[in-house]
Amino acid sequence: MMIRCLAEFNVPVDKLVLFASPRSAGAHLYFIDQPVPVLALEESSLLQRFDYVLFSAGAGIARTYAPVATTAQSVVIDNSSGFRQEPHIPLIVPEINGDLIQGYEGIIANPNCSTIQLVLPLAILHALYGLKKVVVTTLQSVSGSGNSGIQTLLNQRKGNPDKGEYPDVIDLNVIPQIGALLDNGYCKEEEKMHFETRKILSLPDLEVCATTTRVPVIYGHSISVYAEFERQTSIPEAEAALRTAPSIVYHANSYFTPKDIDDSNDSHISRLRHGTDRHSLCFWNVGHNVRLGAATNAARILIAHAVFAGRM
Ligand SMILES: NC(=O)c1ccc[n+]([C@@H]2O[C@H](COP(=O)([O-])OP(=O)(O)OC[C@H]3O[C@@H](n4cnc5c(N)ncnc54)[C@H](OP(=O)(O)O)[C@@H]3O)[C@@H](O)[C@H]2O)c1
Repeated sequence: MMIRCLAEFNVPVDKLVLFASPRSAGAHLYFIDQPVPVLALEESSLLQRFDYVLFSAGAGIARTYAPVATTAQSVVIDNSSGFRQEPHIPLIVPEINGDLIQGYEGIIANPNCSTIQLVLPLAILHALYGLKKVVVTTLQSVSGSGNSGIQTLLNQRKGNPDKGEYPDVIDLNVIPQIGALLDNGYCKEEEKMHFETRKILSLPDLEVCATTTRVPVIYGHSISVYAEFERQTSIPEAEAALRTAPSIVYHANSYFTPKDIDDSNDSHISRLRHGTDRHSLCFWNVGHNVRLGAATNAARILIAHAVFAGRM
């Protein structure tokens, strides 16, 4: 998906090198119409300088290899949670805090998938009303666990009871846990959403409470959002702001579901309404987790950095 996004966004790529595990070495992927061989990743591969290195191989691989790439002065954009909590590493959604990477060299962290689609509308509403508190429940698709999550669901649909990476059967079910359960009662994905929402919006004291669930959907994460604000909100004013915001599609008289997501790169908002009073808003939010929640945002980070650097 990352190389599809680079092509779709017309990133002028002179040379593309693809790495994966030794399992995939020798395979070919297509960039536009050109076959590109997949190489097994080794430390030495990253000692050559690339303008940009995009990682999407999990936190362990990123922690091992991303620092190697930065010694060769490559700018690294990492999809994993490996560096997001490091205070000196920018955690970027370009529409919100892209200015942080002007002139920056090093590792740039791509946020958690659900958090990206959530913070886009929250940033718009925060600018209008001053965000105080956010309570969300997510319904996250199996592709959020990578290709293996998709295979687990498809195999269960064919009658194979193997739970794969999930703590319970996912077919015809909803699992209220993503990532390890922690001593404080939250799970890892919920803690990621708490921390990353505050960091991206530069609101260290924001009250955030997430419940993250896994649902038997292939692509597209959904979030039920309740948000409280300092100032009184207005539905027509919020609608107007969301309608014109970049990377957001506002649906006034209909709602949007993961089945509608196709190749969308936007955060979809529908069912906007007041919460318990005029200081609060509720809405339904859907985004493509592999696009907006991962590859699209990574490509947008690359483009923002390249524009600042005069490469695009
Ligand atoms: N899926 C999402 O919605 C999403 C959204 C945001 C962030 N993320 C994050 O992105 C990261 C990757 O997730 P994914 O969904 O893309 O997972 P995935 O489908 O499992 O893909 C993982 C990739 O990493 C490669 N890899 C594994 N071990 C490697 C090694 N030793 N050296 C080099 N490459 C290696 C795999 O290559 P092989 O094919 O050869 O095994 C594969 O290409 C995770 O940290 C995840 O949390 C995912």
